[in-house]
Amino acid sequence: MKHLVVLSGAGISAESGIKTFRDADGLWEGYDVMEVASPIGWEKKPELVLKFYNDRRRQLLEVKPNTAHKTLKELEKNFKVSIITQNVDNLHERAGSKNVLHLHGELLKSRSTKNEKLIYDCDKDIMLGDKAEDGGQLRPHIVWFGEAVPEMHKAAKIVETADILLVIGTSLQVYPAASLIDYLPDGKPIYIIDPKRHEDRLLDHVHFIEDTACNGIKEFADLMSK
Ligand code: APR
Repeated sequence: MKHLVVLSGAGISAESGIKTFRDADGLWEGYDVMEVASPIGWEKKPELVLKFYNDRRRQLLEVKPNTAHKTLKELEKNFKVSIITQNVDNLHERAGSKNVLHLHGELLKSRSTKNEKLIYDCDKDIMLGDKAEDGGQLRPHIVWFGEAVPEMHKAAKIVETADILLVIGTSLQVYPAASLIDYLPDGKPIYIIDPKRHEDRLLDHVHFIEDTACNGIKEFADLMSK
């Protein structure tokens, strides 16, 4: 079986009703991204950060996987599929995908501010004063701007073994995640599904499907069945 590696971003969940980051002029659900998704933001206004992620978590419990998530699951019939997602939602898992690596953390997990390895399942609000067993304040298990991406090495290793790379719904503007495409072995094809072309990352061997995730995935699945 060929190894299909998928790099997904906010755009794949857009049609499920979760807003992307960069389609709203630097605002993210009305918030300044740096205020709610950075260690400095957390230091300055922890309550605001907790409220922001509590709202995102509540929203996640109300939305559903869409055709794009589901088709990626279907492709497991004919491919070994590995998904590397920048998304903190769990829509790939809820669609049934087996191999999902979260580069930027997960909304449904919390962790100690004192120890990044002390991680808990979390489907409720996190409040100031909620502590981990080491006494550290709980925070969302999310990789914020300026923080290291612990899963990056593992993700790069996965891309190195890809026969086909599918990039879906990501602006490829955030590093190191965006650099993952550089680990694809020479000559292996890249497909990009996005309604907006990103010319800056266009390479010779890229097949661009200029469409939304739910439409574009059908075209991609057709191409893969030939
Ligand atoms: N289908 C597919 N793609 C879409 C759709 C859709 N319906 N709607 C928008 N898009 C595309 C946009 O054109 C854009 O290229 O999805 C991409 C979303 O880009 P970003 O908002 O930058 O999201 P992403 O690339 O996932 O951001 C990376 O940045 O804020 C941080 O940590 C956060 O993981 C996130 C990272």
